[in-house]
Amino acid sequence: MNFNVNELLNSLSFTLDCVEGGLLKNVTNHGRRVAYISARIGMMMKFTGHDLFDLISYALLHDNGVTKSLLHASNMNEFYQAELNRMHCIEGESNIEAFPFFHRVPDVILYHHERYDGSGFFGVSGDDIPLYSRIIGLADFIAVIYSEQKTYTEILESLKKSSRLFDPTLLAAVYELGHNAEFWLNMNDMFVFGALNKVMPSVVRNFSYREMRSVSQIFSNIIDAKSPFTGSHSRGISAKTGVLCRYYEYDEDTYWKMRIAADLHDLGKLMVPNQILDKPGSLTPTEILIVQSHPFYTRRALEVISGFEKIADWAGNHHEKLNGKGYPYGLDASFLDFNSRILGCIDIYQALTEDRPYRQGLSHGQTITLMRGMVNRGLIEGSIVEDINSVFGESVQLKDFTG
Ligand SMILES: [Fe+2]
Ligand SMILES: [Fe+2]
Ligand SMILES: [Fe+2]
Repeated sequence: MNFNVNELLNSLSFTLDCVEGGLLKNVTNHGRRVAYISARIGMMMKFTGHDLFDLISYALLHDNGVTKSLLHASNMNEFYQAELNRMHCIEGESNIEAFPFFHRVPDVILYHHERYDGSGFFGVSGDDIPLYSRIIGLADFIAVIYSEQKTYTEILESLKKSSRLFDPTLLAAVYELGHNAEFWLNMNDMFVFGALNKVMPSVVRNFSYREMRSVSQIFSNIIDAKSPFTGSHSRGISAKTGVLCRYYEYDEDTYWKMRIAADLHDLGKLMVPNQILDKPGSLTPTEILIVQSHPFYTRRALEVISGFEKIADWAGNHHEKLNGKGYPYGLDASFLDFNSRILGCIDIYQALTEDRPYRQGLSHGQTITLMRGMVNRGLIEGSIVEDINSVFGESVQLKDFTG
């Protein structure tokens, strides 16, 4: 199937930008802005076609390791420390290993905070830093100062003061670009997405859903990294969904679409602040509404990707209930197809059987008893609960399904 990779990247990087927006006050569209600035520098360096596309892809994903490093920051104010922390470079590099770039260049994400004079995290200097990393590092510096509401002149002044940190050829390109108001105006929150789209080569590539899953897996790791309490939730759901779909003898495409939907079902949680997600004790009614909005964000992020329509449906429906009492849409049985019902059931099964800080995971038997109660109350599909019971019965080692 032909996939528009731009749509996919745009959608996924949007969720990443929401994560950073939640961490850093006044920082919005960080990845997109870094990508836009990188693209403009790249074009000055005569990048075209696949090279330009790869540069923009790396730039959009450059801070994908931030969700995990956030866990190591003791409070939000220390985020800058976390951003300056080697962790997000290491995590980010290993996360994107399977991303279908045209040319995978090793260490681009790992070294995106390296400095030309060797004063970065890993002490790599000069042209030993991959060119993409040098461009992204410079673009990141500009984007961060831009977010502090500095004027163009102030940004260029800061660059001059820190010039030893950057590749002189790239700096010269930025000084040249910086003469044009247009370069800066396009960085505005209102325009940056459109400006990026204009310079980003459109790429349509033929991938199978199985290949597309390598991308959804990257994002399921990012989602799972967001909360220490649910560290393998998406992975577990995806694995169990896979087992059940094999049991139903699904064709290959549907099987992989379901794995993707399972990987990404909680994508919208990236937009829910950690203070609420990880809050000990009960949530206020407003906080409950915020948490319950996550399948809405999941759907909105996925439905813009051509070929992901069904995936967006299944993933977006995972908290709906057959009696229409689920959230956030309140859809009833007539709107919930069998695959939506499967994801809803597996989500409950996984959540109940996994350990949480405040309780141990329930046994298979206890979980099935609870789920049968939900069937009796008209919430979930009885036949799927019985299939889960036979496929994941007590005799089966549950840990086999978390990979
Ligand atoms: Fe970074
Ligand atoms: Fe960054
Ligand atoms: Fe969820």
